[in-house]
Amino acid sequence: MYPPFGLGVVTPTLELHGATDDLLADLLPVVRAGVADGPPYPFDDPMSLYEDGPLRERKWLQAIWRGRGNVRPESWRLYFVVTLGGRAVGMQDLIGTDFDRFRTVSTFSWLAPGVRGRGLGREMRAAVLHLAFEGFGAAEATSEAFFDNVASNRVSGTLGYRPDGHGWASRRGEPARLNRWRLHRDDWEARRRGDIVLTGVEACRPVLFIGEHGAPEA
Ligand SMILES: CC(C)(COP(=O)(O)OP(=O)(O)OC[C@H]1O[C@@H](n2cnc3c(N)ncnc32)[C@H](O)[C@@H]1OP(=O)(O)O)[C@@H](O)C(=O)NCCC(=O)NCCS
Repeated sequence: MYPPFGLGVVTPTLELHGATDDLLADLLPVVRAGVADGPPYPFDDPMSLYEDGPLRERKWLQAIWRGRGNVRPESWRLYFVVTLGGRAVGMQDLIGTDFDRFRTVSTFSWLAPGVRGRGLGREMRAAVLHLAFEGFGAAEATSEAFFDNVASNRVSGTLGYRPDGHGWASRRGEPARLNRWRLHRDDWEARRRGDIVLTGVEACRPVLFIGEHGAPEA
C-alpha cells in the first residue's frame, strides 16, 4: 500500500521499522509519559513533544501523517519506530531534500528517557545511515544538535561526522546555538558495518524518486 511501511533495518541490538499506525500506537505511551521534560531541551521549535496533555500526542501523530502525505522529489521524510526486543522505544527519521540531485540526507531521533545512555542512540543512527548510504546511495549525511546536547553530538562524532560550522535555532522561544555535522561517504565507508540487514529498499526507491538523476560529483 505504501512501500515506506515495508522498510526495515535490523542490527544485532535493535530494529527500525517503517512507522505504521500500529507501531505508532505501541510508541504512544512513551510520548504520553514525556520525551523532553527538562533542560537541556533537545528540540527546536515548533515541536509537538514540548506540548502538554493530549495536544502532544495529537500533534505528534499529525506531523507524522502530514509527512507521509508530503513525499515529493524535493522533500521527503521517512519515519521509523525503533524496537528493542519487540518493544517500541523511540523514533529515528531520515530526511531527504532534493535527494536524487544532492544525495544528502539528514536525521532526527529520540529515545524513551529510560533507555538512553546505553549505546542505542549510536546504534540506531548507524542503522539509518546504513539505509541511506548502502540502500539509497547517499553521498553525505548531515546532523545538527544544540551545543549542550552531549549525547547527540557524541553520536555524530563517533560515527565519523566532521564538524561543519554552527547555526542558531529557536528552542522553547529562546535562541540557542547548534553544532552542525557532516559525514562524507568515504568516512562512512571506513566504518561500514557488515552486520546490518535492510529490507524493502527496492520497493521504496521509486516512491522517493531515487534514480532519476545520476549520482552527483563528489
Ligand atoms: C540523542 C539520543 C537519541 C542519543 O541516544 P543515547 O542512547 O542516549 O546515546 P548513546 O548511549 O548511544 O551515547 C552516545 C554517546 O554519548 C555519550 N552520552 C550519552 N548520554 C550522555 C550524557 N547524558 N552525558 C554525557 N555523555 C553522554 C555516550 O557516552 C556515548 O559516547 P561515546 O560514543 O564516547 O561512548 C538520546 O539521548 C535522546 O533521545 N535524547 C533526547 C532527544 C534528542 O536529543 N534527540 C536528538 C535531537 S538533535
